[in-house]
Amino acid sequence: MWHFRLWDVQDVAVFLSIALYMCHLAGAISIHSPQKSLTRSVQEDVFFSVDITCDGIPTIQWTFMSGAVSRTIGTWQPGLYTNITVDYSSRVQHYNNGSMGLSDLRLADAGYYQVTVTETAGSSKDAGFVLKVN
Ligand SMILES: *[C@@H]1O[C@H](CO)[C@@H](O)[C@H](O)[C@H]1NC(C)=O
Ligand SMILES: *[C@@H]1O[C@H](CO)[C@@H](O)[C@H](O)[C@H]1NC(C)=O
Repeated sequence: MWHFRLWDVQDVAVFLSIALYMCHLAGAISIHSPQKSLTRSVQEDVFFSVDITCDGIPTIQWTFMSGAVSRTIGTWQPGLYTNITVDYSSRVQHYNNGSMGLSDLRLADAGYYQVTVTETAGSSKDAGFVLKVN
């Protein structure tokens, strides 16, 4: 029984050091997203709601992924600049808390949406959403 307990302690120690390392890498960024999976119909709108907290002004980037396709939707830094990809510019709304709205949905919009938050010091963190379009 004794050596089983030893393994437990070792597992916990490994887990803790990985957790500490991850916290260190992620810095002070946190991404709060109430809902990670959404279903909408064609021509409807969707709102990917997130709330970001981090040190300094974050760089927020949204990426769309579906099968082999991966494309940048837009990048912005609240109050500094906004760069929405031309294909999306008429349908995307961006918010300072990192949220993004996409209107007039098409079947091809179904897929995985990832938001990546990068802080001035260079560390970054991401969160993903799955969108189904009927
Ligand atoms: C982010 O901001 C938008 C617009 O102000 C708001 O509607 C949304 O609820 C916010 N999201 C969160 C998770 O706080
Ligand atoms: C805007 O984003 C596009 C796509 O990611 C990129 O190719 C382009 O260089 C960016 N433009 C500026 C001014 O940052």
